[in-house]
Amino acid sequence: MEKLAIKGGAKLQGEVTVSGSKNSSVAILPAALMANSEVSIENLPEISDIATLSELINYLGARVEINSSHSLTIHTDNLFQWHAPYDLVKKLRASYYLLGSLLTRFGKAAVPLPGGCILGPRPIDQHIKGFTALGARVKLEHGLVKMEAEELKGAEIYLDVVTVGATINIMLAAVKAKGKTIIENAAKEPEIVDLANFLNAMGAEVIGAGTDVIKIYGVKELKSVEHMIIPDRIEAGTYIMAAASTDGNVLVKDVIPKHLEAVIAKLKEIEVDLEVGEDWILIKGCASPRSANIKTFPYPGFPTDLQALIMPILTKAVGSSIITENVFEGRFKHVDEIKRMGANIRLEGRSAIIEGGCGLMGAPVKATDLRAGAALIIAALIAEGETVISGIDHIDRGYQKIEEKLNNLGAGINRICLEEV
Ligand code: UD1
Repeated sequence: MEKLAIKGGAKLQGEVTVSGSKNSSVAILPAALMANSEVSIENLPEISDIATLSELINYLGARVEINSSHSLTIHTDNLFQWHAPYDLVKKLRASYYLLGSLLTRFGKAAVPLPGGCILGPRPIDQHIKGFTALGARVKLEHGLVKMEAEELKGAEIYLDVVTVGATINIMLAAVKAKGKTIIENAAKEPEIVDLANFLNAMGAEVIGAGTDVIKIYGVKELKSVEHMIIPDRIEAGTYIMAAASTDGNVLVKDVIPKHLEAVIAKLKEIEVDLEVGEDWILIKGCASPRSANIKTFPYPGFPTDLQALIMPILTKAVGSSIITENVFEGRFKHVDEIKRMGANIRLEGRSAIIEGGCGLMGAPVKATDLRAGAALIIAALIAEGETVISGIDHIDRGYQKIEEKLNNLGAGINRICLEEV
């Protein structure tokens, strides 16, 4: 058990390089299990979710060969197991992608209900609707999702809600199904496009990823491939928010600015001074932030994953701001923690109303989920005095060396063991 002790007040300065996308990687590693031989993946982030998934893949009988801290090869020849163990599955949400990939590989799968961040209810009914439409018999027994299919057959599936997870899982289950599958009202996130590119490089026929209709023509075989993961737009957004919130001057490198259009537009509205290049974003400061109203939506809307992270800068703005969370019902756990630091925020249904202009003060706080944890780091950077954040295993699930990257920009962050606290 570790904590982060953060001294507030520094204006961040310098350059930071964005790592590979967590949400792409956690879909592409399970997808690799559908190939007949080895698959190499580059630009993986060095985070605990990838370590856990690698352990899961080894358990299933495939062999993960680590090439470097950002690259690995998965040898799938000896994959024999279709039942994933609870102890590993419970650690991350994306373990449910094993349902789609193992179903394709074996015609059966048994995977415990997944873990991951608690953001309110996170049902998997749309995943199950998709698997069932493709011909799988699905049973939920003792916390385990069990599926079996003699033959998967293409189907037309309309998603009742726009969901990243179900879109990905259906793509995985449909890729070798007989005939054509159409996913309507599909999620359009860049990570879905990255997965489609990966599958197509393996020989799949996935058309339309990045739009709300994805067509998948089933193929017989998926071959060996090498793939480079796209940059993590949420990690990029995190350093952008940290730089802007501290009125700093930071060059964020290895970004795809197109993936952050809604975020850049909002930051401009808040009067963050920034410049956008081909694969970089330069934050030049934000001396007096303006209040703003933000509504989260599926991509290309303002991402729910950056909702908590834009809150600290709004505590500095003069006037009221409203953040409305439209994607996850219960995604305001960070509010109580930021309030401990002196923020004036009230919750009304799915909205948080932030009365800006009151400075934050360091306090002991707890990260309740991954992005809530990152938001607390940003709040701590602009607070007066020291903040100690517990629950940082959530942060380590999704951020590669976050304190090292921020300390290189002049932040004062120490990782401490519980005994030292
Ligand atoms: C993924 C991301 C997460 C991000 C989220 C939304 C990964 C590993 N995680 O999560 O970082 O915050 O997308 O961009 O990529 N829903 C249903 N039924 C279902 C599935 C989802 O009602 O079967 C609902 C959810 O409760 C939620 C909404 O749909 O309200 C969106 O969820 P979804 O897009 O599936 O999120 P995840 O894939 O879990």
